Amino acid sequence: MENYLSVQDIDSLSDWVLEARKMKKNSTQHKALGQGITVCLLFFNNSLRTRLSTQKAAMNLGMEVMVMNFGSEGWALEYEDGTVMNQGSSEHIKEAASVISQFCDIVAIRAFASLTDKEKDEAEIVLNGFAKYASIPVINMESSVGHPLQALADAITIDEQNTKKRPKIVLSWAPHPKALPHAVANSFVEMMQLLDANFVITHPEGYDLNPKITKNVQIEHDQKKACENADFVYVKNWSSYSNYGKVLHQNSDWMMTQEKLGKAKFMHCLPVRRNVVVEDAVLDGAQSLVIEQANNRTYAAQVVLKKILETS
Ligand code: CP
Repeated sequence: MENYLSVQDIDSLSDWVLEARKMKKNSTQHKALGQGITVCLLFFNNSLRTRLSTQKAAMNLGMEVMVMNFGSEGWALEYEDGTVMNQGSSEHIKEAASVISQFCDIVAIRAFASLTDKEKDEAEIVLNGFAKYASIPVINMESSVGHPLQALADAITIDEQNTKKRPKIVLSWAPHPKALPHAVANSFVEMMQLLDANFVITHPEGYDLNPKITKNVQIEHDQKKACENADFVYVKNWSSYSNYGKVLHQNSDWMMTQEKLGKAKFMHCLPVRRNVVVEDAVLDGAQSLVIEQANNRTYAAQVVLKKILETS
């Protein structure tokens, strides 16, 4: 595999999940594979799980890791071709990506959506800029549009916990005081389309995700009805897509509660705002999978790194 930019780069989800679960049992069994190889993790935005799990995955494979908080420590980058760079940007992505490619063998990028310019966000200028100008493999650690490492960890978690041939899985919108990107929800939707599941999305009117991503997935605007008899309920806030990047209303009645969850397992990518997105009783209860989801981020990243190492 050359790059891991989206869920679409997974050639066989069942094989990848199986491989991740094997590595979870013996995480350093492939330590020789990454000897002499360096991965560079570039963060244009904050992180806890992605940073530590990707670093841990690389270390498990015997790799060296360099981390840079590019958003606060790097030069402001220009992405347009032919620009007269007499404004805020100090360095062009062409030079930056080429220089970084000399220092490491794989580069991983986190660059969130601006939520102010839909066209630019959908063009994925940072991630695609690196994919275009770097001469080494590129991994998406959450871009404007997708978070495929999170979605892979979620698929591993569901595989570990599932007891049914065709589980009912619900993606539920939840309230949040800030405008959040669509990346986690988008990649989860794409991942669910690769599974044999009864998959339902529930959200208030006005919060439809990009229809090019949701395609023909069932949408149910009654959250309680959507959650009935669910096996897994994945909760996530996102801002409006049609009224791009806007929080339309507070909808505090959409917070996930034990009553709505029923017997389903609770999933969230974290970080999560307690008693806004989900009540304490759910997060602290036995049905919550959030800590295991975070644990599986290591094995998701490890399977991606291993696939790249095996083909480069
Ligand atoms: N879920 C996730 O990506 O967490 P971080 O933002 O802390 O990396």
